Amino acid sequence: MKSTYGHFDDAAREYVVTRPDTPLPWLNYLGQDDLYGLCTNTAGGYTFWRDARLRRLTRYRHNNVPYDLGGRYLYVRDGDAVWNPGWKPTKTPLDRYECRHGLGYTRITGAKDGVEVELLFFVPLGENAEVWRTTVRNRSGARKDLRLFSYLEFCFYEALNDMTNFQRTYSIGEVEVEGSAIYHTTEYRERRDHYTVFACTREVAGFDTSRDAFVGVHNGLHEAAVPFEGAARGSVAHGWNPIGSHQVDLALEPGGEESFAFVLAYVDNDGVDRFEWPAVVNKERGRALVERYTREGAVDEAFDGVRAFWDDLLSTFEVDCPDEHAQRMANVWNPYQCMATFNLSRAASLFESGIGRGMGFRDSNQDVLGFVHLIPDRARQRILDLAGTQLSDGTCFHQYQPLTKQGNDAIGGDFYDDHLWLILSTCAYVKETGDVALLDEPVGYADTPGSAETLLHHLETSIAYTLSRRGEHGLPLIGHADWNDCLNLNCFSTQPDESFQTAGDVEGSRAESVMIAGLFLYACRELAALFRRLGRAGEATRLDGLHADMLSAVEEHAWDGDWYVRAFDAAGEPVGSRVCEEGQIFIESQGWCVLGGAGGGNGRARRALESVDERLATEHGIVLHQPAYTRYRVELGEISSYPPGYKENAGVFCHNNTWITLAWCSLGEGERALDTYLAICPSAQESRIDTYRSEPYVYAQVIAGRDAAIPGEAKNSWLTGTAAWTFVSLSQGILGVKPDYDGLRIDPCIPRSWRSYRVRRRFRGTRYDISVENPDGVCSGVRSLTVDGRAVDGNVVPPAAGPGPVRVDVVLG
Ligand code: BGC
Repeated sequence: MKSTYGHFDDAAREYVVTRPDTPLPWLNYLGQDDLYGLCTNTAGGYTFWRDARLRRLTRYRHNNVPYDLGGRYLYVRDGDAVWNPGWKPTKTPLDRYECRHGLGYTRITGAKDGVEVELLFFVPLGENAEVWRTTVRNRSGARKDLRLFSYLEFCFYEALNDMTNFQRTYSIGEVEVEGSAIYHTTEYRERRDHYTVFACTREVAGFDTSRDAFVGVHNGLHEAAVPFEGAARGSVAHGWNPIGSHQVDLALEPGGEESFAFVLAYVDNDGVDRFEWPAVVNKERGRALVERYTREGAVDEAFDGVRAFWDDLLSTFEVDCPDEHAQRMANVWNPYQCMATFNLSRAASLFESGIGRGMGFRDSNQDVLGFVHLIPDRARQRILDLAGTQLSDGTCFHQYQPLTKQGNDAIGGDFYDDHLWLILSTCAYVKETGDVALLDEPVGYADTPGSAETLLHHLETSIAYTLSRRGEHGLPLIGHADWNDCLNLNCFSTQPDESFQTAGDVEGSRAESVMIAGLFLYACRELAALFRRLGRAGEATRLDGLHADMLSAVEEHAWDGDWYVRAFDAAGEPVGSRVCEEGQIFIESQGWCVLGGAGGGNGRARRALESVDERLATEHGIVLHQPAYTRYRVELGEISSYPPGYKENAGVFCHNNTWITLAWCSLGEGERALDTYLAICPSAQESRIDTYRSEPYVYAQVIAGRDAAIPGEAKNSWLTGTAAWTFVSLSQGILGVKPDYDGLRIDPCIPRSWRSYRVRRRFRGTRYDISVENPDGVCSGVRSLTVDGRAVDGNVVPPAAGPGPVRVDVVLG
């Protein structure tokens, strides 16, 4: 199914946008190591190094009029016509437009009057640089004399200051120009030892570095003075707003073609002389970097490197199954999105300014779950970094800045779920790799510098922390909020200028979270299994006991008759109960209680999930609760501040839909599992894209719920925990390939109509070719398993010694 705006090219692993005026800007990410860029289908976006707040290299104004203004622009002047291959900012009608968002790159092609310009944006592996390969073709019958003008606007690194402190920023801008390279050197003279260079690998005919000169003080980018006048001004910025622009003159005979590149790089002069002349920046490293891409063939080789990198990563998990959406997402877009969430947590997207948030503690731990199979070593380091922001009593900094790895004091801690997610990420890593040595890594607590407790100590501290904070029903206290940041049972905020999350806790509060109880149950089981694996049966048994105690508290106090209540508020009243006027049933406690093992022997698990189906499921996904809150409730906080149907107030919050998918899997209900997945699957939304509006290739955080004005409209795409959890629910829940301590556990939960499918999985250095047959049309249950032709008892494929491939044949029944 194609949408009016584009289609998937599965073989090329690209989404092809065929119209620039998409319902919203459709985004891609460039970069995989330290330098990242946001790139929309009209070449909008910005670039930063490591930290979108502290090392922003270029400026961008997303929520502008129009949206998505500023980016990697190239103006083409052909005679009197001025146009952009990506349509914006001039929006001159093009004869042809195409944007291919691929893995780590975006290729935009625009054509007009026989001139075709292709821009390929990517970040070479291991390089702090973004390359814009530019190919110009003359497909007309006549010679073309063209002028191209590149354009980007430099940011003064600290992005918040950059857009607020104009009394300073208007006076500090500095640049140096050397040949085809523009050096942005603001603040270098005093305390920075890094600069940005924007260079062209080809000889240029002119340049500009002043925005006022290039654009004009009263002009918009769509009418920028220089390209419309036709000649660069050679402006040198002193203060105000430095930009980088090159003028490139090309004469192309009919059929002629020329290719070169622009390179935008972040250069650190740490360890070398800072100046090559008094007050002249030492550019040695910048020159060398640009030089590397000037060599014939270098740009293409670098691009091949990015492609090979992704080919290799995606070969870790490949599926061939009857559902086209599940297959395409699991093979390409879902792991790709997992890389973005792993790299950026929730920091920088079209919905996050890159200023407000660093790396979230709970977010990043969950991101590990969908990423660990791709690059386990990076997941390992992330787990240690996260653990390092936990305090010795178990509290976790809710966020930390990626540049400094220090906890963010403004947000602090006291979200009483954070610490438990560390257990999930750690166990996922050990199951994937078998590397139990991680548990013995010394990692200090943030409040006791020099402490060298092990990671395992952090996990035990996390369990103890929940136990030490329990309410009158024996359930965990909620603190500022649990996973649902907007369920603020303690803040009682009446002041519009306060943050709901940190507004302080009401005296004597008894607010408890049933969701944390479910998460605790799950974490206990995970940690118990880990201890068993370590041969420490005593600790495992102790955790079994803790699980049993919490389970009885849940079953005794949290069962509401047809579902599990969501919480108890500060006054001890239930939230998410049939006795409530609004918000009678919530999704999160059903998912987590079932996943934690509640309702198993007594039919409640199934009943709870049926209630979700009856009361919360819609064609656009499962809404967070019902009925939606129609007025602000001070005892509930931010959740009731959203209009009904939006965000946490009964929107479809895709992240938590995945827990229901997994919960259905735990009951062996394959149809239910796939249906819940497909309702939020972006690839399945192409037929209704004018309503859905967001990118059809990545999951969105929210889809407007049934109470909203436009149900089914998606927002906050890309950086969402939905990515990691859908990958887990698809690959482990539905397709049933679960890394475990003793090997790969095969435990599918598929629709009855699926008669066979295949998975190729790389696991601990060996490739497994897994073929699943379902002759009797069941959902789950492994009847037989053979590994390289030899029958194996049970459903675990033991780790093999060599690289494989190892052939695994599974018959369900
Ligand atoms: C936050 C998560 C939170 C979720 C639900 C997201 O914006 O990043 O930490 O769990 O919202 O409130």
